[in-house]
Amino acid sequence: MPIFGKADKNRTIPGKKSTAGKSSADFARLPRHVAIIMDGNGRWAKRHKLAIAKGHRQGTENLREIIRHTDDLGIPALSLYAFSTENWSRPREEVEALMQLILDFFASEIDELDAKNVRILILGDKSRLPEAQRLTLIEAEERTSGNTGLRLNIAINYGGRDEIARASREIAKKVARGELLPEAITEQTVADHLYTAGQPDVDLLIRTSGEKRLSNFLLFQVAYAEFTFPKALWPDFSVKLYDEALTDFGARDRRFGGR
Ligand code: FPP
Repeated sequence: MPIFGKADKNRTIPGKKSTAGKSSADFARLPRHVAIIMDGNGRWAKRHKLAIAKGHRQGTENLREIIRHTDDLGIPALSLYAFSTENWSRPREEVEALMQLILDFFASEIDELDAKNVRILILGDKSRLPEAQRLTLIEAEERTSGNTGLRLNIAINYGGRDEIARASREIAKKVARGELLPEAITEQTVADHLYTAGQPDVDLLIRTSGEKRLSNFLLFQVAYAEFTFPKALWPDFSVKLYDEALTDFGARDRRFGGR
């Protein structure tokens, strides 16, 4: 049951507000686009002597708070790396658990996200996903396509190189049809053909668990992003740690190649 209907968008949902975090006024400067590589679910599960699937499930619980807080702060865009093109090589039970989590996440969250005016976009190739997941994701995108609040991008069966190759094919088709001159192709043309077309570049990339790799995430969009690598495993990444990353971002001197 939706908490509010369409007419009630932008209203605060009682009891759903993040209470642990700060308000946007507490930060010197907030990013316009945050990207998160949610790493460490497996290690968290091992540390707690649980099955890997339990680690991913705990990571999804965590995700709810982080999305809410991003929305409360008024950050315009949030991109989450949920499943990469390489993740298919994980053991079958783990892939199945992640696929089930996708269904569970949307079943439990879509009403609140829609009521909060969040617009969902799936980054990645949905065609290779099982039918139930594909339909759920398409439905979430369609249902929220008219929303004007937080842009919530969830990368599923996503690869950054694949995204650039896909954009290149689309641009090449336009050139072949005579709709575009090769000399007219600019960086903006490429940006306009990525999944994230129309959204700001990533300002802040967070990868949890202490690993310092990009793992093929948003390769084009992070060109001038600030990176931060908190040690916490994803299920332990709290709103407090998120606020610390945002405070650190506000203190950075961003020169974009200038002086
Ligand atoms: C990396 O941890 C995490 C993943 C591959 C999956 C992340 C997915 C979720 C948090 C839940 C699904 C999200 C949605 C929106 C349904 P890892 O398993 O590589 O950790 P490890 O390096 O400690 O093994």
